[in-house]
Amino acid sequence: MQVIGVVNFKGGSGKTTTAAHLAQHLTLQGYRVLAIDLDPQASLSALHGYQPEFDVEENGTLYGAIRYDDARRELSEIIRQTYFLGLDIVPGNIELMEFEHETPKALAMRQSGDPLFFARVARALATVQDRYDVVVIDCPPQLGFLTLSALCAATAILIPVHPQMLDVMSMCQFLIMTSDLLAVVAKAGGNMNYDWMRYLVTRYEPGDGPQAQMVGFMRSLFGDRMVTNMMLKSTAISDAGITKQTLYEVSRDQFTRATYDRAMESLDSVNGEIQSLIQAAWGRA
Ligand SMILES: Nc1ncnc2c1ncn2[C@@H]1O[C@H](COP(=O)(O)OP(=O)(O)OP(=O)(O)O)[C@@H](O)[C@H]1O
Ligand SMILES: [Mg+2]
Repeated sequence: MQVIGVVNFKGGSGKTTTAAHLAQHLTLQGYRVLAIDLDPQASLSALHGYQPEFDVEENGTLYGAIRYDDARRELSEIIRQTYFLGLDIVPGNIELMEFEHETPKALAMRQSGDPLFFARVARALATVQDRYDVVVIDCPPQLGFLTLSALCAATAILIPVHPQMLDVMSMCQFLIMTSDLLAVVAKAGGNMNYDWMRYLVTRYEPGDGPQAQMVGFMRSLFGDRMVTNMMLKSTAISDAGITKQTLYEVSRDQFTRATYDRAMESLDSVNGEIQSLIQAAWGRA
């Protein structure tokens, strides 16, 4: 089972859009996919028809499966189907924040035998690993215990980046802080081995000089850690988002053909590349 963590603490870098389209793409390709919304803002859930305030009951998020008290439940009871045939989801809502509040207390109490925070998502996922080929985790735009736990459960990391100066600087800061924290977690026994990790350029505008420069800079910095294809900025993606849909759900005649086709081509090339990485990790490349 490949567990892909989609992370970056820069808000609006395209995490949710990337996670949703990747999960749906893989589902369309015949993989058994579980999407996990780890963001209390729950945009990924909303995109899949679960309004966080109305449609997600108490203990209905991943928190239910990783909490420290007796109210903990099996992940399999929390997983829901989506109307996107074959794609399951663990929705999110504000209760996920509890994990950020409860973890420091749990660390202070240190009940022996109970896994530390970074092992809890992995433990929950292990209970459903024969049901899914790929798990896609949409992380919140912050480097808290939820994100760290996702990083420890992940077998692969995808970092969406909008190629602008401030975003890239923010991402570099994210990387430095993350590696510091992960070093601490690794010392405590956290698993930090990834099959692959990649940076993905999002909302790219080919005509934009500064963006092109930024992409060049990133390529020189990260080399083949970059997804070769880039996700183009497209009104087809943002307009679909307004009606809580992905590009895979809207119909082609809602847009000018060129707009739709360009967005779909970009999306398919990006997702195809990630699919190859998954296959390679399974030794099938
Ligand atoms: N390729 C794209 N073309 C056009 N708009 C896009 C594209 N990708 C993302 N967007 C838009 O950019 C905004 C931010 O994207 P998204 O919600 O995916 O970012 P995020 O990293 O998940 O944000 P947050 O940090 O708040 O969770 C959304 O309004 C989305 O519709
Ligand atoms: Mg998001």
